[in-house]
Formats: sequence, C-alpha cells, structure tokens
Amino acid sequence: MEQIQQLKTFESTSLASLVKVQNERELEEWRVVALGKKSLLTSVMKSLADLTPDQKKEVGEAANNTKNVLNEAFSRASANFTVTAVLNSDSLDITLPGRTPSLGKKHIISNIIEECCEIFRDMGFTIAEGNEVETPYYNFDALNIAPDHPARDTMDTFWLEDKDKNGRTRLLRTHTSPMQVRFMEKNQPPIRIIVPGKVYRYEATDATHLSMFHQIEGLAVGENITMADLKGVLINFLKRLFGEDRKTRFRVDYFPFVEPGAEIAIDCSACRGKGCSICKGTGWVEVLGAGMVHPQVLTNGGIDNKKFSGFAFGVGIERIAMLRYGIEDIRNFYNNDLRFLGQF
Ligand code: DAH
Repeated sequence: MEQIQQLKTFESTSLASLVKVQNERELEEWRVVALGKKSLLTSVMKSLADLTPDQKKEVGEAANNTKNVLNEAFSRASANFTVTAVLNSDSLDITLPGRTPSLGKKHIISNIIEECCEIFRDMGFTIAEGNEVETPYYNFDALNIAPDHPARDTMDTFWLEDKDKNGRTRLLRTHTSPMQVRFMEKNQPPIRIIVPGKVYRYEATDATHLSMFHQIEGLAVGENITMADLKGVLINFLKRLFGEDRKTRFRVDYFPFVEPGAEIAIDCSACRGKGCSICKGTGWVEVLGAGMVHPQVLTNGGIDNKKFSGFAFGVGIERIAMLRYGIEDIRNFYNNDLRFLGQF
C-alpha cells in the first residue's frame, strides 16, 4: 500500500537526518519536520478518515508505529542535548576536583577505651560488661559501702523512678565497681577481668565534671595475689599508655571495697614533676584508684577469702584522655564540635 511505503521511507530518512542534528535549535527544526502539523506523518493520520475500514486499520497501525519510533528518537536526542548543554554552560566546571565526602571516625574516648583494653588483654585480662542500670545492693552494699557511709555522698546518684520486677529501687551506676561482685557470683578464681563502660553522677557540669563519663574497672582474684601484682600490672599499664619514662607514685587511700587502698599518680605531663597549675604545684596527677579486694567483698561474691585474694582498680577514661592530650575542659568530648573531635 502506497501510504505504508511512504511512512517507512519517511521514518528512515527522518532517523538519518536526526543523526546529523548538531544542537538544540536544529533538533527543534527536525521535530517540526518529522512530527509537526505539516509533517508527512500528520497528513497520513488525517487521511485515515477517507480509507476503508481494513485500510484504516493497516495504515493506522503503521502510522502509530512510525510516530512512536520518531517520538522516542526525539526524546533520546533531546536528553543528550540537555546533558551537553549543562556540560557546556559556565555554571559547571568539570575540571574542578570533586567534593571529597567527609568520612566519620571513631570518637577519641572509644579509641582510648580500646587502647586500654588492648594493654590489659596483653596481660591476660578479658572484657566483661556490666549494666548501666544497677541496684543499690551491687552499686553500694555489696561493695561494703554502708547506707550511712559518707562514700555514698561523694557519689551523688541518679535514682530511677520505677522499680524492677522484684520491687527493688534502681539507679544509674555511679562507678563500674558493681560488676566486681556480679562477676564473682558467677565465676570462681582465677579471675582477671576489665569492665569498660559509662557511669553516671548527679553533679553540676564544669570543666572537670560531667554527669556521664567512662571508667574501666579491673579485678583479679586468685591464690597468692599480692600488692606486688597490683603494682606490676598498673605500672605496666601506665607506662604503655603514657610512655616508658613516666614516673608513678602509689599512696595510701581509702575506698570501702579495698583494704589497703591506694591512689596512683603519674608525674605531671605539663611540667614533668616541677609543679604547675595543672598539677596544682605538686608535680603529680592522680589517675587511678586501686587496692586489695576487701575480704568482705570476696565473701559477698561467694569467694573463699581464706583461700583467695585479689586486687581491683578503677580508672577514669576522660581523665586519661585529658592528661594525654593536654585537654583542659572535659565538656569538649561531648560538645560534638567536629573541629575538636577531628584532631584525634
Ligand atoms: N570506684 C571508684 C570510683 O569510682 C574507683 C575505684 C577505686 C575502683 C578503687 C576500684 C578501686 O576498683 O579498688 O571512684
């Protein structure tokens, strides 16, 4: 049929001329010729009315087909020109380097916790994690801190309003020490664990205090464990963390859950022992609390205190980070200022 032949020729010549189109203006001219009101396609469409039903069907189908083919070719070409137009315009300089996506990184406190855990792992300690929500029993009583003991006041506590399913009052742990008795209840010596985690105190925030901070607790229980073991472990820990040349000082201190108790300091990193404002003129900064586990605490954990002895220690992570990097305000860790955090 004549029209069908015409359509086929029209389709192939149109497609051939589209290949030569160079820019958007030429594309528009092409569109008018190929698909516009005066195109061969439109006139064939119009002439359909004069045909017999059979011819109408056949020619109509062919015309629709050609229309679809040309429309699609037009869309593809026009999409190409849009991209080229954007690339050619002044607004986009494709020679500029791309924007580097900024990568997140681990928080400095997480890094210090990992570093400490690794040092203790090398000395045979394994990690045990306790709960942040505790009962007064594990946080205080089991650790020999009696209800009227002044140590309860030094650790102002966040008490929870709801009770646990046994009707017991709960609190946010004020230190990682409650895990000592919890662990001893379930494990017999030899015990060598560290407990990293968050602790909470109901305290006004300032440059050296936060209501949430991190501690690492340590506990070792076994036969013939002495103060010399405690010293060996902690001196090794502090030297690996702060440097071989650092000096350490052990002094007697009091914590209800250890006997004897000790406070451990290192020589001040700022003045190296001469005395400055950071160490308040003493040349030493305290970094750890420690001691030999109190016999009553061993008993509370279900461990025979005639047969076994042990040592325990607790270290504040933010404090370690502050001393290590000379950071003067503890609030920096949690202000989420990427200029601060990005340095570590
Ligand atoms: N729990 C103490 C605190 O938060 C730190 C501490 C001191 C832990 C002596 C110990 C220890 O295990 O033996 O202040």
